[in-house]
Amino acid sequence: MANLDGYSNDMIWRHLPLRNLTVALFVWLGLTVLFAGVSMRIEYQRASEELAATGQTIHRLISQRAAQHDAHLTSLVALIKAAPELPETAIGEVFQSIVQFYPRITAIDLVRLPVDGVSTAATLISWPGPLKTDLSPIASAIAGQKQGEVRTYLNTAYPGRYLLGKRATAGNPGLAIVVQIDPVLLIEGDERPAWAHVRVSLDGETVLDREANGPSVTDSILTQPHFSKIVDSQSQPFMVDATRPLALSDILSGTRIGGFALACLAVLLLLLFTWQLKANARKLQQTAEEAERRAHLHEHETRLAHALRVNALGELASGIAHELTQPLTALLSQSQAALRLAASEHPDPALLPEALSANVREAKRAGAMLKRMRDYISKREQKLVLADLNQIVVDIAELVRADLEKRQITLILDLATPSPQAVVDPIEMEQVLHNLVRNAADALEHGDMPDRSIRIETILLESGAIIQVSDTGPGIEADTLPRLFEPFYTTKTDGMGLGLALCASLVERIGGHIDGRNQTSGGAIFTVTLPAVEQHLKAAQ
Ligand SMILES: Nc1ncnc2c1ncn2[C@@H]1O[C@H](COP(=O)(O)OP(=O)(O)O)[C@@H](O)[C@H]1O
Ligand SMILES: [Mg+2]
Repeated sequence: MANLDGYSNDMIWRHLPLRNLTVALFVWLGLTVLFAGVSMRIEYQRASEELAATGQTIHRLISQRAAQHDAHLTSLVALIKAAPELPETAIGEVFQSIVQFYPRITAIDLVRLPVDGVSTAATLISWPGPLKTDLSPIASAIAGQKQGEVRTYLNTAYPGRYLLGKRATAGNPGLAIVVQIDPVLLIEGDERPAWAHVRVSLDGETVLDREANGPSVTDSILTQPHFSKIVDSQSQPFMVDATRPLALSDILSGTRIGGFALACLAVLLLLLFTWQLKANARKLQQTAEEAERRAHLHEHETRLAHALRVNALGELASGIAHELTQPLTALLSQSQAALRLAASEHPDPALLPEALSANVREAKRAGAMLKRMRDYISKREQKLVLADLNQIVVDIAELVRADLEKRQITLILDLATPSPQAVVDPIEMEQVLHNLVRNAADALEHGDMPDRSIRIETILLESGAIIQVSDTGPGIEADTLPRLFEPFYTTKTDGMGLGLALCASLVERIGGHIDGRNQTSGGAIFTVTLPAVEQHLKAAQ
């Protein structure tokens, strides 16, 4: 796979924070559960709607069939208006054809009702003939029916069927037609889907109960979609109840949810991966910006350091000029002596080279001094080298010696052996020490102390090296102490307040630090701590 700014995909996965992975996992679980919930809800809804439609159809069919029964009774009653004059066989044939056409009508009887309530009912004509039903248990009830009324009879005497009775019209009140119906055939085979449980009842008594093939109602953990409606019929006001037993597996599709979970996981991982790529790119950019910012700062510091060195030139120059007087005076007197020697009648040939060698030595001394000064104020980039700290102290002492002598200040060097070493820019380090020495010298100007001295000490530690600059001045004022390294903070009328601030940044940028405090014996002491060489090398890796 492709790399992005040095990060391989493998690394991205490895560096993916555990927190993000956990969040993604929870989001994934949450979405999957939500999806399962929603799809279950939709499936349940669909099953309920299907059941409602089926319930409506069954209800409509039963209503139509009930109306048909009423119509049969009405036409049969009309037929027997003329009875008993009508030939029995003709009536029997009508009965037969109805029963043949409508299998749910299992029998039709023409009954003579008991007139006085005492005599029993007598079946006059019946189809199918040989199996005559004893209608006595319901005969008196039929006799009590209103004119034109059709009534349903559910009676234990007639198991597996219900009876419909209607009295003949006023012309022949003693007769009645009774139709027997098999309720199982109220709904034909394919009219009820296998999953539907249908129950038809009258006043709470079951007329028909057809179980669904599938989970039984009691096994299911779900509430069952349910439909219930009363048949629109005066004679057969059945209650139609339809239920759809649902098992969890009916509405919860494992493959669908599994598919969703997989797709969701893929999308989430993709998002996470993209997010991580972006985060890495952002981090790299931030690092680059930080490096650039530091480089800028570095450059500024270098420029400021140079400016301040040039600024200190005046002070140094007077000292150096004074210092140069010595070799120049020596040069002059040696050269004059040599000239005199050359002009004499018997010049001693051994003396001339001696005088010239002395001149060379003095000229070199003057040259070295000027070179040091030029180096010190030269404009240059930072150059880190493994340097001898004692040597740096000696060099700066050379530069400031004349100035200090002029101000009657003793400079004491207390150098550790062996000399501590550190990775520094020697010129910058000289500048740090120069600033500390100048501050000490400034402090010694004030006050009237008998001992006016500055001490520079190098100390070798296991953890690094220390250079301390202490003085016998009045010490740092209490107000100044917390603000020593603050840029532009000065207590001097002609001060810039940049010396110590610059010292701090020069020392800190090579991994060291600086602090200033008062000594118990009086006077200030500034400590520059530099990291050990190995530490520096480690940090640079
Ligand atoms: N050796 C010292 N003794 C007493 N006070 C000091 C000493 N070194 C520095 N200070 C105080 O710290 C202040 C800040 O010093 P610095 O940053 O070098 O700025 P400047 O020398 O321009 O004032 C000085 O003004 C002075 O009050
Ligand atoms: Mg200063």
